[in-house]
Amino acid sequence: MADARITVHTAARIDRIAPEVHGHFSEHLGRCIYDGLWHDDSADEDGFREDVVSLLADLEVPVLRWPGGCFADDYHWEDGVGPQEARPRRRNLFWAQGREDVPEESNAFGTDEFLDLCERIGTEPYLAANVGSGDPQEAANWAEYCNYDGDTELADRRRENGHEEPYGVEYWGLGNENWGCGGQMSPEQYAREYRRFATYVGTQSNLMFDHDLELIACGFEGHEWNRRFLEEINESPWGAEFPLDHLTLHHYYGRGMNVSEADEEQYDRLLADALEMERHIERMAGAINAVATTRDIGVIVDEWGTWHPEATADNGLEQPGTVLDALSAAAVLDVFNHNSDVVTMSNIAQTVNVLQCLIETDGDDAWARPTYRVFDLYAPHKGSEAVRTSIETPTRAVDDERDLSLVRASASVDDGEPYVTVTNLDCREAHTVEVALEGTELDPDAVDASVLFADHDPDAEVDADNAETFTADDLDVSVDSGSLIADLPASTVAGISLQ
Ligand code: AHR
Repeated sequence: MADARITVHTAARIDRIAPEVHGHFSEHLGRCIYDGLWHDDSADEDGFREDVVSLLADLEVPVLRWPGGCFADDYHWEDGVGPQEARPRRRNLFWAQGREDVPEESNAFGTDEFLDLCERIGTEPYLAANVGSGDPQEAANWAEYCNYDGDTELADRRRENGHEEPYGVEYWGLGNENWGCGGQMSPEQYAREYRRFATYVGTQSNLMFDHDLELIACGFEGHEWNRRFLEEINESPWGAEFPLDHLTLHHYYGRGMNVSEADEEQYDRLLADALEMERHIERMAGAINAVATTRDIGVIVDEWGTWHPEATADNGLEQPGTVLDALSAAAVLDVFNHNSDVVTMSNIAQTVNVLQCLIETDGDDAWARPTYRVFDLYAPHKGSEAVRTSIETPTRAVDDERDLSLVRASASVDDGEPYVTVTNLDCREAHTVEVALEGTELDPDAVDASVLFADHDPDAEVDADNAETFTADDLDVSVDSGSLIADLPASTVAGISLQ
């Protein structure tokens, strides 16, 4: 007998799930770039780690944000182009990195290496320009170097550096956490800086009022800051027409708990904290709607994921990859699906070795973490139409104000074919789940379902030797009275399609 019921309202469309919602973020921090994506003594003559490149290519990562993070507002892009031997070594103001573990930047991995990586893995680049310690001219020059096709010194420099054709970088972030590491600005101050930068970076076609790049401003989890920022932006003579296409939010959780020492109550709390994402998206959308609409200005969550106490600046923000973290990623991806009319991109932090990375490396080994498996299971949602779901589920109180819904789901439809992901966030008990798909004739032979983590506990940690045990297994699904029925073991994630 089912104790959780999901109804998929297949005709109640929300919006297309932007593929960019499955994006990633790579910063010059710890072993993300050096030793993670790149090492000079690699078998690949260009310095890329072939193993990591191939894992990323398999996942079909839609967009990759770079070079930071806090590092972005300490980075001067011209240090990282041209002959490698002539590039200056600089201090890295925020992070020690690489195998040498020093707070310095060799600049061996710069713009052309990053954009080459994006071409190799078939991903769109998202560059974060330096607002905190840079100036609009520097940012505009970067856009010209990357994108201009004419007869200028910067376009020629790109050609000399091996890239004849413009890269066509579409996504430009103007600053990162400018309320904090990016210059400690008030919202009004950042809005004024943003306006200056956007004026010069916004276009490559000389039509200032018709900017052709996707311009991204950084916002804050403190939503009053966003309201004041948007109000000040709106004060400009351009008003809501001003080039601002997306406003970003960062949401980390898990800082109070180390998964290996935590108990089940703490697991519940972490999952409830992850689900706060919904409230942040709503509040940011509310701030946007006061000056424009979320069609004009989308919400990007360009850093998110778990950040546990093991991850410190001293160890390059490294922490174990666990099933619990992967469950939280599934819960957040459901939130993005439910808000597909508002969320235009997300970038989990960070791609390799840092925080809730999807890929981990050790010497010559590279392997996928449980969170990688969740992204793979959710891949069929990318680019599909999200549809509404309603759920009757057991809940558990996590504190005085919050109940955790133990079974969660999201659904999408592509060319008439539904795809449903169902997560059992209950780390203690299995639940029997009934899924009713409105208006869909169910053929038991057409059901294809798989489940992640059925044989693992929530605190199971991945390593090079056990990584393959976290791949998906087949899930038994029966059809009864026109609904799908499945038993979901504790802390598991399932994907169900009808083919
Ligand atoms: O992802 C690590 C850091 O977290 C980033 O540099 C910064 O933007 C955020 O505070």
